[in-house]
Amino acid sequence: MTIPAAPELPGTIRAARIHAFGGPEVLRIDTVPTPLPAPGEILVRVAYAGLNPLDHKLRDGSSAKASQLELPAILGRELSGTVLAAGEGVDLGALGLAVGSPVFGMRGADDWRGTDAEIVAIPAAHLAPALPLGPRAGGTPGATTVDLVPYGGLALAGLTARAAVELAHVAPGDTVLVHGGSGGVGQIIVPLLVAAGAGRVWATGRSENALRIAELGATPIPYDDADWREVIRESTDGKGVDVVIDTHYFSTFLPSLDLLAPDGRIVVLPTLADLTPATERGIEAHIPAISPTREVLDELARDLASGRIPLEVSAVLPLTEIARGHELLEDGHTRGKIVLAL
Ligand SMILES: NC(=O)c1ccc[n+]([C@@H]2O[C@H](COP(=O)([O-])OP(=O)(O)OC[C@H]3O[C@@H](n4cnc5c(N)ncnc54)[C@H](OP(=O)(O)O)[C@@H]3O)[C@@H](O)[C@H]2O)c1
Repeated sequence: MTIPAAPELPGTIRAARIHAFGGPEVLRIDTVPTPLPAPGEILVRVAYAGLNPLDHKLRDGSSAKASQLELPAILGRELSGTVLAAGEGVDLGALGLAVGSPVFGMRGADDWRGTDAEIVAIPAAHLAPALPLGPRAGGTPGATTVDLVPYGGLALAGLTARAAVELAHVAPGDTVLVHGGSGGVGQIIVPLLVAAGAGRVWATGRSENALRIAELGATPIPYDDADWREVIRESTDGKGVDVVIDTHYFSTFLPSLDLLAPDGRIVVLPTLADLTPATERGIEAHIPAISPTREVLDELARDLASGRIPLEVSAVLPLTEIARGHELLEDGHTRGKIVLAL
């Protein structure tokens, strides 16, 4: 294997691994050999790795995907960082991914090598350049440096939000209810719905997140303070909404079916969701399945840099505090994204 322009690489790196399925205490910071890029792959020095609910479901073995992990396993699905080197057959220049350039991306559906590590090898097609944030996104005009923090949590939530909105095939003027409007995926879903021409968007969330939900373009329904079912019934004159996008599922899915207008659609995020109660009633129901492509990652970077989609990072934790990150996510009330700093 040739590694063009490879800088001096350390023989070992730090990575968060599990040796057995279990609670947050099974997470360990291990020293492991530095990976090498296979043909078609790029070696990335990871700056930030986004945490996602899937991480704790893999860690405790409750995700159906957990059976695909080989223990000990490095967890994590997404990252931002800088290009270190390329494996055979990768033309970094043609891809616009020079050594040292900022990138972000995520693991493909069957790639379980994790991202919570100082250096990872990842297919070139699952990475894209991270762009400087423009003024509407909180950057400065003409900025040339890239803030890698939000890019650490962009790929998985961004791809999921796009897939959810596409599956809901929102027509201009449609009314939409989003459950969990201030969570990692919810914060991207809401502005995408507004951009798709939704007539009115409501989003549930705790009272403390109402302002954020309103900023994103939805009418907040503080579910700890009001009965969201009543709010939707009253606001739609009993007709219900055309679309529900449910990022929560557990207490929200079944009652939401009664709030759908004729020809209404429901998109549910958790992959463990049982859609049968919807399909038995003839209601169109979907769970998004995502896989990264360079084209979509490029679009996400452009949307983040231009401010078309936001990415609020509510906590940046050192790798050594990964267990705390998992605990926060398991609590089910994350605002925006939590990222690990490598
Ligand atoms: N299918 C896929 O490919 C895919 C991809 C990504 C994620 N997912 C799944 O989608 C789900 C959401 O992911 P995420 O990253 O957005 O999670 P997250 O960042 O942890 O957000 C969770 C959200 O749920 C809200 N929530 C909690 N209890 C609620 C309730 N009773 N009613 C309404 N909202 C409630 C929280 O709002 P408050 O804090 O205001 O309560 C928060 O906004 C997870 O189950 C994840 O595994 C699936």
